[in-house]
Amino acid sequence: MVFKRLKLRLFKYFYQNFYLTMIFEKLKTEIETILLDNNKSKDEQLLNICEVLETNIEYYNWVGFYFKNGDKNELKLGPYVGEPTDHTIIPFGKGICGQVAVSNENFVVPDVAAQDNYIACSITVKAEIVIPIFVNGENVGQIDIDSNTPDPFTDEDERFLEFVCAKVAKIL
Ligand code: SME
Repeated sequence: MVFKRLKLRLFKYFYQNFYLTMIFEKLKTEIETILLDNNKSKDEQLLNICEVLETNIEYYNWVGFYFKNGDKNELKLGPYVGEPTDHTIIPFGKGICGQVAVSNENFVVPDVAAQDNYIACSITVKAEIVIPIFVNGENVGQIDIDSNTPDPFTDEDERFLEFVCAKVAKIL
């Protein structure tokens, strides 16, 4: 009985991982196709990417882009999908996004309640991941994803979103 349950758990674990890897691979192709479509504006392309991510990955519940606002040390909200947010401008250093603007590093937050320097957009959000976008080595913006599931992000999300950011950087 115990073995059976263990076997079932292992099966579920590997199945879920395998399934997710396949989804990420499929989405990479979709994102490349979106970015090749010259009939769409940059913002339409970015919005399409948000839609594709939010629709296909069950634990991506708010997906958006922030970009450096001209010469100012602040981020400005770009295309996004999910609940509207009041945080359309975020000063560098403030919140998870503002910290990534300064650190140039990925920021994975398994539990937003455990963060001091965090800007809450919605009470349903449990976790967040922010990956910077570089153009010629300069941090020009980021993709920000909120999840209503606690601790859902893995290395695989980071690698996948780094891919997305590298592709997006080419159209900026
Ligand atoms: N939680 C972010 C703010 C942006 S919202 O998630 C849309 C932060 O702490 O920077």
